Amino acid sequence: MGEIRIRDRQPSDLDSCVDILLAVHTSDGYLMNWPPDPVGRLTPADGLRAWVAVADEVGIVGHVMVQAVNGESPQVASVARLFVAPKARTHGLGARVLDHPRQWAADHGIVLVLEVAADERSSAITLYERTGWRRTDTQRAHWTAPDGAPVFLHR
Ligand SMILES: CC(C)(COP(=O)(O)OP(=O)(O)OC[C@H]1O[C@@H](n2cnc3c(N)ncnc32)[C@H](O)[C@@H]1OP(=O)(O)O)[C@@H](O)C(=O)NCCC(=O)NCCS
Repeated sequence: MGEIRIRDRQPSDLDSCVDILLAVHTSDGYLMNWPPDPVGRLTPADGLRAWVAVADEVGIVGHVMVQAVNGESPQVASVARLFVAPKARTHGLGARVLDHPRQWAADHGIVLVLEVAADERSSAITLYERTGWRRTDTQRAHWTAPDGAPVFLHR
């Protein structure tokens, strides 16, 4: 796929990010429920920063952001919307993308948390555990799967 660099997301990247997110939704069921306003899901009011991975001659192939956490101190932020295009997977890009929130948090003295759907087959959980994240809690989400089934989230 050639050289891939990671940079801050620009507003003009959002349409491409939504295209990738739709491909990820179709192949992996993430997001589990496709939202009516996908751009809004990538630009929440409490978003703090976002990065994209860009491949030469291909364009955007990965995304991650950090978001303030309701009710937590400003010293806590959440990693959110991590996804890599299906065609760009298993080359370490997920781990590379995740390094950016980690470095940002270290630079700002911020503790990072995240929530991930409790599916044991999930590459995301494998990736998080392999890169040093610790599971501290599992709770039922306040939303449900498309078929109405309850969803549990590991924090
Ligand atoms: C989770 C996700 C971001 C991982 O992206 P990725 O770029 O494939 O991540 P990595 O390449 O760093 O790691 C994935 C696998 O490739 C393997 N891998 C990494 N580099 C490799 C290399 N050079 N050669 C061979 N395999 C490699 C890793 O060992 C890992 O395998 P494992 O899952 O069996 O441990 C991607 O699968 C995704 O977008 N999933 C859907 C969205 C999602 O669930 N997001 C999380 C929401 S909380």
